[in-house]
Amino acid sequence: MVLLDGKIAAASVKEELKHITEALLEAGKPLPHLVAILIGNNGASETYVASKVKNCEETGFRSTLIRFEEDTAEETVLNKIAELNNDEDVDGILVQLPLPQHISEQKIIESIDPSKDVDGFHPSNVGKLVQGLPTFVPATPYGVLLLLAHFNIVTNGKHAVVIGRSNIVGRPMSILLSSNIPQGNCTVTICHSHTTNLTEICLQADIIVAALGKPAFVTPNMVKDGAVVIDVGITRVTDATAKKGFRIKGDVDFESVAPKCSAITPVPGGVGLMTIAGLLKNTLQAYTNNRG
Ligand code: GUN
Repeated sequence: MVLLDGKIAAASVKEELKHITEALLEAGKPLPHLVAILIGNNGASETYVASKVKNCEETGFRSTLIRFEEDTAEETVLNKIAELNNDEDVDGILVQLPLPQHISEQKIIESIDPSKDVDGFHPSNVGKLVQGLPTFVPATPYGVLLLLAHFNIVTNGKHAVVIGRSNIVGRPMSILLSSNIPQGNCTVTICHSHTTNLTEICLQADIIVAALGKPAFVTPNMVKDGAVVIDVGITRVTDATAKKGFRIKGDVDFESVAPKCSAITPVPGGVGLMTIAGLLKNTLQAYTNNRG
């Protein structure tokens, strides 16, 4: 069984990016600049954004974190995004999700200039993804592709089952795995909360991508011998014995499923780390497209 270690794969991507930023610096060029917007005090979002900023620093990217209070008006955020869209010194803009109830996620996503939409959530970028055109691949599915590539996992002709149909992970993941790209060319089944015969479908999978956000949902009876299992879940589960009072749990019951797999991702230490690698690659892409 191969452990698909996100630490190793992410370090390799970050090393590659660091060489690029060092060369830019030497050439006297500006460095890629990511702006992250965080609204409110969601604990998980705070952690993710802090990690994005830290990884920017480690790879020589510039980053700016803009924070708004939970009760900030939607218009205030839209005005800030308009300002960033017009700022030539900003390459990538991301607004950390989820948003407070009173702010429309769709309005915010659509307000970001598609050429700076490093999350790849804007409908015009999603449309390009579906059509197989160059665009920003949403960071988490991008991270999964980078992980598969790093460990030379063959996807061509395989049956991939994606559990979860979110706009952030499941849906784009299913499109990418079925696309004619190096980590694609799968036959893809996308499962969700209304799927009636989930176990039966999963048992046919050569590759399972679990992205539904339910801890330990995937159990050994759902997994074929030799399957590749990618766990996108990162749920905080209360645990009084843990330092922070919670533990991060994946969507796969790792201990019992791992012995059946040819390869599996750990949680934490798997896809989560790759997500940031995907985001940084998109930011560099935005920089190259807009001022490279
Ligand atoms: N919340 C959870 N995942 C993501 C992501 O990839 N991008 C943004 N902006 N918010 C998220």
